[in-house]
Amino acid sequence: MSLRMVLLGPPGAGKGTQAERLAQHLGLPRIVTGEILRTAVKNKTSLGVEAQRYMDRGELVPDQLVVSLIQEQLGQLNGQHGFILDGFPRNTEQAQALEEFAQIDLVLLLDLPREEVVRRLSARRTCERCGRIYNLVYQPPQRAGICDACGGQLYQRSDDKPDVVARRYDIQYNQEAKPLVESYRKRSVLVTIDGDGAIEEVFERILRVLRSHK
Ligand code: AP5
Repeated sequence: MSLRMVLLGPPGAGKGTQAERLAQHLGLPRIVTGEILRTAVKNKTSLGVEAQRYMDRGELVPDQLVVSLIQEQLGQLNGQHGFILDGFPRNTEQAQALEEFAQIDLVLLLDLPREEVVRRLSARRTCERCGRIYNLVYQPPQRAGICDACGGQLYQRSDDKPDVVARRYDIQYNQEAKPLVESYRKRSVLVTIDGDGAIEEVFERILRVLRSHK
């Protein structure tokens, strides 16, 4: 399938959760900026050391670091025509840079109220080995603290503390991403999906959009 897709939305809206399902369903690779940055932080690479300062404060990592990272990742797709971008672009500058090396067919905006964002993120756990996402309330693992898929340990992201979540929502989403959302809306590539509801329900809403997009 050839579909070049971007997932947008506030922190905790379910972008990662839905991107994993979509990638499997459509047979497309996904590029998850947050996951790449967290791996760089864990491995203490020069990118990771630089990025951590911003991530810990709930701020965007500087555009030039992220843009070259995405360009490199897309360059490695070798003949694959479609992809799912989760976490990029996040502002109009990144979107302009992206246009220089890739066209986008569809942008899905997963919408979720702030109160639900805070509720979901306080209970999120992530596998340190494979990156699978869980939720202690809505999507718990079968064995406490252990990933169902690979047996890795689950951990709580350091940027899921309430004050950092608030900054991510208010600064990254409400200030930086809003003009981006409006620019994609004007170009008629944006579809808003209600992110409130069970995971399968939201996935079905996305599939409905994809069916009508063909
Ligand atoms: P990133 O990792 O991309 O964070 P984010 O955009 O804030 O999104 P999240 O990963 O927090 O949430 P999500 O929407 O993927 O939700 P999830 O599926 O996990 O970025 C982290 C940091 O990296 C940024 O703050 C920034 O510093 C930096 N960065 C990244 N990209 C950058 C860029 N392009 N430029 C500059 N800096 C960048 O779901 C959340 C929880 O809810 C989970 O527990 C899940 O199980 C649960 N859940 C999901 N769906 C449902 C549902 N329908 N019902 C109930 N629970 C659900």
